[in-house]
Amino acid sequence: MRVPFLDLRRGGAALDEALREAFDRVLESGTYILGPEVERFERACSERLGVRHAIGVSSGTDALLVALMALEVGPGDEVIVPTYSFFATAGVVARLGARPVFVDVREDDFGMDADAVAAAIGPRTRAVVPVHLFGQCADVDAIARAAGSVPVIEDAAQAFGARYRGRAAGGLGVAACFSFFPAKNLGALGDAGLVTTDDDALAAKIRRLRVHGAEPKYHHHVVGGNFRLDPLQAALLSVKLAHLDAWTQARRAHAAFYDAALVSRVTTPRALEGRFHVYNQYVVRVASRDAVRAALAADGVETMVYYPRPLHLQPCFAQGARGRFPVAEALAESSLALPVFPELRQDERAHVARTLLAHA
Ligand SMILES: Cc1ncc(COP(=O)(O)O)c(C=O)c1O
Repeated sequence: MRVPFLDLRRGGAALDEALREAFDRVLESGTYILGPEVERFERACSERLGVRHAIGVSSGTDALLVALMALEVGPGDEVIVPTYSFFATAGVVARLGARPVFVDVREDDFGMDADAVAAAIGPRTRAVVPVHLFGQCADVDAIARAAGSVPVIEDAAQAFGARYRGRAAGGLGVAACFSFFPAKNLGALGDAGLVTTDDDALAAKIRRLRVHGAEPKYHHHVVGGNFRLDPLQAALLSVKLAHLDAWTQARRAHAAFYDAALVSRVTTPRALEGRFHVYNQYVVRVASRDAVRAALAADGVETMVYYPRPLHLQPCFAQGARGRFPVAEALAESSLALPVFPELRQDERAHVARTLLAHA
């Protein structure tokens, strides 16, 4: 049996048909930049996430970039980010001429460690960016306490639908940034993203930055960019949003199956009290990870590694030697993501668990 890590073509004929209808609607509308489809999707997101403003943007990376631009992060500033995340979390900071200040993550939720944040805060800190890694919220209350008056910007790229103490990811900080990269739990058919905030002034700034800082058109107050969400992606995402709860339920059922099947032999992810995990990824920890991964591949099980190298050890940042952030470095050597996409079949997940137990 071959089990793919992710198969984006298993949504089924009914979903395909609804997506084609959405495509036709946009085609026939003649509106291909912003407009009612984007507004409709933004409204649906703000209602669902319980935030005043949801602003569709071109990608998760641009969501982070434009949120930090709205906070006027620039040269000489510092932004605290976890060293164990996707590159964009830190990349956007460096692109603005500011310095990403890395902190280690926790073993239990893979999120930023609040004590490390407290130790890293300084007079130049302009933002703290916790990442809700793999679909479980970071401990944002503790992080916000450590941040004090410094704004917390959620990197919620992997956490649409996740909740923390009853509150939705997206409403846990000053602003939040989502990605709809196709592999995400809510994925577009291309690049797309979203910024959410309850702050009216910040929302207005972000909307302006999204269109080159112009308001009205051709009158530029600040230097922004083209960070717009396509109406086509918005229409497709509106179709998919209606399925998200069912898909999340399926992911959680796969996770519960893996938890029960694997826990005796493998370190399974911990779903913490008070947090609703959406399992964008299901990540176990194993010794000799690369050998285990190769053995699984030989038995037809495709897996992924998020992430093989922490950000402080990336050549473009090169901050500090190996050993500086021991938790992140250990995770980079031991983490292994198993197939957890909603349409994964029961015989497939059983094969994954059996194969992993045979090799771990
Ligand atoms: C944690 C995290 N931050 C940021 C991003 C960037 O999102 P995008 O790929 O949509 O630019 C991603 C996803 O790729 C991510 O996983």
